[in-house]
Amino acid sequence: MTLFNVYPLYDIEPVKAQGSYLWDKNGQEYLDLYGGHAVISVGHTHPYYVRKITQQLKNIGFYSNSVKIPSQEELADKLGKLSGLKDYSLFLVNSGAEANENALKLASFYNGRTKVIAFSKGFHGRTSAAVAVTDNPSIQAPINFAAHVQILPYNDVEALKKAVDNETCAVIVEGIQGVGGINVATDEFMKAIRRACDKTGAIFIHDSVQCGYGRSGKFFTFQHSGVKPDIITTAKGMGNGFPIGGVLISPKFEAKHGMLGTTFGGNHLACTAANAVLDIIKKEKLIQNAANIGDYFMENLKGIAGIKELRGQGLMIGIEFEKPVGPIRNAMLFEHKIFTGVAGTHTMRLLPSLAMTIKEADIFLEALKKVLSKV
Ligand SMILES: Cc1ncc(COP(=O)(O)O)c(C=O)c1O
Repeated sequence: MTLFNVYPLYDIEPVKAQGSYLWDKNGQEYLDLYGGHAVISVGHTHPYYVRKITQQLKNIGFYSNSVKIPSQEELADKLGKLSGLKDYSLFLVNSGAEANENALKLASFYNGRTKVIAFSKGFHGRTSAAVAVTDNPSIQAPINFAAHVQILPYNDVEALKKAVDNETCAVIVEGIQGVGGINVATDEFMKAIRRACDKTGAIFIHDSVQCGYGRSGKFFTFQHSGVKPDIITTAKGMGNGFPIGGVLISPKFEAKHGMLGTTFGGNHLACTAANAVLDIIKKEKLIQNAANIGDYFMENLKGIAGIKELRGQGLMIGIEFEKPVGPIRNAMLFEHKIFTGVAGTHTMRLLPSLAMTIKEADIFLEALKKVLSKV
């Protein structure tokens, strides 16, 4: 059997990782400014994280959601306290798409409606309901029926006010668009979504899969705007690489047995990983670190020749270049051994571990200056 060939690959085989570094099978070291798509939140192979998962694996790795799994409650408690959303409840899943799938379903169960408002350049995952609200027809199959979805321009308050009505089931939005190029929602836009949903009975779903979990310098990006969504979805940084996603649900929703479900969601190992991540974020003050290092990046990126625009918050940074990003990213990777990401044709995406240091940031900044002086 061969692999179904859907991923264009770099000819690099990482075999070891620690903190913000990776090593390939030839012993070559790489600095990681991408965290495998914003997944590595507390640093690769953090010793506390490894110890906790190893211990858990020796005790019990999995049993189904038909028995008590106290680490689920521990996770809900820790997440409530660290995020400040103590009165929300938590449904555990396995990925970002699954979190959004369940969020949309919950919204529709709640108000019985189907119409969903989503935004241009938004990305919410590849499963049926999630991909239908994703602004990319090339990844929608005919079966991903999307006639109930209206795509509006991002950050356009007037368009939003006109579109949300008494038939709207939900508004789904990323606080900072990731795949779409690191576009930050304005406070005004977030507040307008809240108001429109309150007025019409629509559900405000905040997709925090990429931008959440401390990356922006606050636990969730909407906390910069002072609004509270009805449902929040999380995944990437939640397990530092162990697959886990979450749906955070406001008290207005009432749970019923059988309403939602999953085989693997909330298993012992995933919850142990997620609990370890939250312990580390709290103990090492990584949310503050993300804010500080993010500011440091922004200060030091400003004024570098060849950069057209800087966007982002904390350690979710988009650097739009005057020239195409492809050759810049390749030079960073192959000449300077630094992993970065891209969005679109001209934007570099930085999504490093929240534990990134100034020293590591400086290595990136020096390399970028050298690369830009040559392209
Ligand atoms: C904002 C956002 N939502 C949802 C998803 C889907 O997450 P997953 O790939 O875990 O299904 C992603 C993935 O990139 C994302 O960036």
